[in-house]
Amino acid sequence: MNDSTDTRYSALKQIRDELLDFKESPLFEYRKKNGFHPVIGEGNHYANIMFIGEAPGENEAKQARPFCGASGRILDELLASIDLKREDVYVTNVVKDRPPENRDPSPEEIELYTPFLDRQIDIIQPKVLATLGRFSMKYIMDKFELFMESGPISKLHGQIFEAPSSWGTVKIIPLLHPAVALYGASKKGVLLADFKVLKEFV
Ligand code: URA
Repeated sequence: MNDSTDTRYSALKQIRDELLDFKESPLFEYRKKNGFHPVIGEGNHYANIMFIGEAPGENEAKQARPFCGASGRILDELLASIDLKREDVYVTNVVKDRPPENRDPSPEEIELYTPFLDRQIDIIQPKVLATLGRFSMKYIMDKFELFMESGPISKLHGQIFEAPSSWGTVKIIPLLHPAVALYGASKKGVLLADFKVLKEFV
């Protein structure tokens, strides 16, 4: 139902329009100078599962699509392993513009961009927030006040946490970033095992 009569579509489009003109961001000039685009997110606006990555890489910033490079191919494989396609889920990032040289997003950038992520979560109202990597894990665990459960991603990945939200209980499932699979088969095995946890929420 991705047409202009759909309120979710309109609310997400509003976020896109604001991000296109987001001059307050220190990444705005870099985006413009390099012909990059902001990467808002894509997928099913009624998805049960929302994946949240870190920030766009070069391919993503060129194509304005999340996870469309090497990490995206891993993500597609992981989704296929539980019979899911991109169209079944919603995929976005904490930071919506590419940081130079794929450096980690700064605390200031995270603070600046997360109000947009918060609005996306409120619009889509997912049952499951699956974080990809430590930056989105930290942001989402803190946002949902799971301070007691906090720890390194090496300990928390694949576990299911629950938190209340205005649309009911949300499950938060920290996952490793798909890029780790590019550096070792054992990490890919961990990701494949953790993705099985998601299957019951499809
Ligand atoms: N890595 C991310 O965290 N997000 C993307 O969109 C691509 C790579």
